[in-house]
Amino acid sequence: MAEFTLPRNSKINKGRRYEAQVGKRLKTFKIYRYDPETSANPRFDTYTVDLDKTGPMVLDALIKIKNEVDPTLTFRRSCREGICGSCSMNMNGRNGLACTTPIAEAKGDVQITPLPHMEVVKDLVPDLTHMYAQYASIQPWLKSATTAPSGKERLQSPEDRAKLDGLYECILCFCCSTGCPSYWWNSDKFLGPAVLLQAYRWLADSRDEATGERLDELEDPFRLYRCHTIMNCANVCPKGLNPAKAIAETKKLIAERAA
Ligand code: SF4
Ligand code: SF4
Ligand code: FES
Repeated sequence: MAEFTLPRNSKINKGRRYEAQVGKRLKTFKIYRYDPETSANPRFDTYTVDLDKTGPMVLDALIKIKNEVDPTLTFRRSCREGICGSCSMNMNGRNGLACTTPIAEAKGDVQITPLPHMEVVKDLVPDLTHMYAQYASIQPWLKSATTAPSGKERLQSPEDRAKLDGLYECILCFCCSTGCPSYWWNSDKFLGPAVLLQAYRWLADSRDEATGERLDELEDPFRLYRCHTIMNCANVCPKGLNPAKAIAETKKLIAERAA
């Protein structure tokens, strides 16, 4: 029978308990804590928060805990309104933005971990270095072979502009890529749904003149074709986007030019 040994630091220890808050509407948050710079294993710390004294979203509770109970708790956030993409994390088993996820969605305790299958910088902060390198690899800017008329913008019809709807809204939170089983196992080569949606955003732009070059780069058994249409990306996107559809459109463009 096969035997597996987990790396020492993959075992999660029981953590500390903070019951600093009293009140009538108490909610328990179990939060993943890990600092790779120490030799300590990860742990789940437990915090009790009075919902009458915090805002309605998971991020409100995290900020309250950090400000009033435990300043060492580490997480990313900026806009607090679902625009910057920095507060993405896993809440009760589902990836999402902490600033737009109501605490009330959780029936019992709220368990919070970093985005899955990622190296952890500290606590709830995943290391996104590889994903940003993959994003840079698709050259996410308008590429043109011709020169725009002097002093004039490159114009786009309202119909062509509408083709970018469902693509330009992506905030690069990576909830989709880190929820994609295929990306978990192939992230060294597969670009994943977030980056492939961004790649299609430029293929769909009527002003971009590098379609052939972009498709050449994507036509690869790993970079594009590791998507098996499992659709978890569309299921989890907090902006309601459908990366799987963008991936299918890209595959269609490749098939059409080969025909
Ligand atoms: S549809 Fe493709 S990209 Fe989306 S979760 Fe499934 S395998 Fe991943
Ligand atoms: S497609 Fe959605 S889940 Fe994926 S990075 Fe963009 S906004 Fe986030
Ligand atoms: S803090 Fe910006 S998306 Fe949540």
